[in-house]
Order: sequence, then structure tokens, then C-alpha cells
Amino acid sequence: MTTGLLNVPISDTKEQYYNHKAEFDTAIARVLERSWFVLGQEGTAFEQEFAHFLGAKFAFGVGNGTDAIQLGLRACGVGVGDEVITTPHTALFTLLAISQAGAKPVLVDIDPKTGLIDPELIEAKITPQTKAIVPVHLYGQAADLDPILELARVKGVVVVEDSCQAHGTLYKGQATGTFGQIGTYSFYPSKNLGAFGDGGAVVTNDPKIADKLVQLRNGGQSERYHHNLMGVNSRLDEIQAAILRVKLTYLAGWNEARRERAALYNQLLADSWVQIPVEREYGRHIYHLYVINLGSRDERDGLQQFLKEKGVGTGIHYPIPAHLQKAYRWLGLAKGDLPKTEETSDRILSLPMFPELLLEQVEQVCKLIKSYR
Ligand SMILES: Cc1ncc(COP(=O)(O)O)c(C=O)c1O
Repeated sequence: MTTGLLNVPISDTKEQYYNHKAEFDTAIARVLERSWFVLGQEGTAFEQEFAHFLGAKFAFGVGNGTDAIQLGLRACGVGVGDEVITTPHTALFTLLAISQAGAKPVLVDIDPKTGLIDPELIEAKITPQTKAIVPVHLYGQAADLDPILELARVKGVVVVEDSCQAHGTLYKGQATGTFGQIGTYSFYPSKNLGAFGDGGAVVTNDPKIADKLVQLRNGGQSERYHHNLMGVNSRLDEIQAAILRVKLTYLAGWNEARRERAALYNQLLADSWVQIPVEREYGRHIYHLYVINLGSRDERDGLQQFLKEKGVGTGIHYPIPAHLQKAYRWLGLAKGDLPKTEETSDRILSLPMFPELLLEQVEQVCKLIKSYR
């Protein structure tokens, strides 16, 4: 007998553990037996394998994605008094990382169709203090990089890609995170490539920047007890690296599974009252999140509540634009200053999305959404 109540979470990290338990257990035991926990063989092997997966020259494991962005900026020489252009429609951690590097975030509104930074609006925000642009590959879709890279080249500023939601996303056939001077990743557990704890990585093709990153993440040391720079202590530990090595072998298949689920959502919701995500033809979206748009905040909130009552988990990424967060009041921006972002954050809803989500569950969720109106 069915109660009509579903049990569909927005994401689920347990399934991957159970599906590959023996491999994880072996990997973790290997580290424990070796009893070398920080900056060892697993980390180095993971860095090489992750760089290879992306087609980058260097990858360095760090403590989390926020540190990855902070250290990436610092390795490019960004610091106190500099301005860094980014989007207000992101995890606030993108801005916090800019602040931690000592710089001031300067916000540019989005293309409401995709939620991605609007490249056309960037040039007007460039000043003599601008040192970097941080495009965010939001939800697993690439920002439109060509105009951004060209503008950065002309203006002499660096590009640090926030690829924290885009592990394997392509832009014109090439992995995001490998276009700018720096690419940054988060391995927060629910990411497409997620650790069993915090983790992150910084990617670059530039040997000079690589040399600086190696020092910055390790207290600024060039060798033990020789601190050249005021670095931080932010290293990916050996257990997380060993876990990520297992997961990396499945990542391409998991991304494909997410795309398959997104395609089914698209198909089933195409002729409904909700607006399905816009996928730009220049790239390959890996659907870290599957985000629909509703007509208004009331409609979105109503649907979210209805789905909750039916046992379907959803999320809002993100409900408060960066410039309206208390922590960034000092930027001096107010409601109405970045209208596309403000409107978007009122209307979006993230539906259940993870590789193990059953196609039947996608069908059930779509049926409920259609029945709501
Ligand atoms: C777009 C984006 N940037 C930065 C971060 C920060 O990553 P972390 O949580 O690993 O510090 C995240 C994840 O929360 C993110 O989604």
C-alpha cells in the first residue's frame, strides 16, 4: 500500500559509499597503515590524476574550495587594495575568498536565463584597481569564457575560475578551470566529486604560479622551517585524497548519469508551467544542480512547501544575493542595484539531482510539479 509520500532527497552521498564500500575501505586502510597523513603519496597521486582528468599541468590539494580561490588569487599577486570582479549569484564563499586575499569584491549582474555572470557588463566595472575576474561556473555550467578571457587580456588582469561546482564541465570541448591563470575546485561532500569531509584543489598551467601555490598552502614554506611567504595552513589530507582517487575513476560516469536525469526532467517538464534550465550550446553542463525557474517568489515558495509535504527535498541556490548579505553591507549596495540577480534568487528552485537518483523518482517529482497547478 502506498501512502503517497515520497522519500526523494535533493542529494545523497550515502549511496556512493555503499556502492563502492570495499574500495573506500581499502583506500582508507592504506593511509592508516602507512600513517602518513598530510602531504604524502596519496595527495601527490591524486593531484596528478586530477590534473590529468582536467587536462591541466598542475593541481594542488588544499583544505577547501574557499582556500583554493583565496590562494589562487594570492598566487597571481592579488592583495590588499585590489579589486576583483565576480558575480553576486554564487555561494558567498566566492566573495569571502576574495576578501581573505585582501581584495574588494566588485559585483556584476547575471544573465537571468542561466544565472551566470553577464560578460557584457564586466568592462564597465573595470578600474585601475581591478586585478582579477572570478567567473563562477554555476550549477555545473560554464560561464561564457571567451569574452571574459579576451577582456582580461586587453585589460591586463588575471582570470581565476571558480569551478567549485564544475568538476568535468566543458567549455568548447575543454575542461573549465584550465582557461584562466587559475582554476579552483571544492570537494565538499555533495559536489560531483566530493570527499568525506572538506577538500579543495587549485589548478594551473603556469610553473611560476605553481611554485607559489605549493608554498602558500603550506605556511609559505619553500622547505621545512623556511617561510618565504605569509602563507596559510591548508592542505588536502591523505585520507581525503585516497577517497577522492577512488571517486575520480567514477566521475565521468556520474556526470553522464546526472545529464541523463537532467534530460528526463527537461523532457517531462518541457511543456509544463515551470521554466527548465537553459543549457548553453558552447559547453557541456554537468548538472551539479538542476535548477528550475518559477514565475514569482510566492509561486516558488508554494511549490517548495508542496514538494516538502510530499517528501521531496529541494533547495534554493542562492536565496540571498551576495550584495544583500549583512557581511557585505559595506560594499554600499542596496536592493535594486543588481536586479537580475535579485529577481532570479526569488524564483529559483533546485530539484533532486544526484547520479543514483532513480529515473522513476524523476518521473514522480515531475508528476507532482505538474499536479501542483
Ligand atoms: C561556487 C562555489 N564557490 C566556492 C565554494 C566554496 O567551497 P568550499 O565549501 O569547499 O570552501 C563553493 C562551495 O560551497 C561553491 O559552490
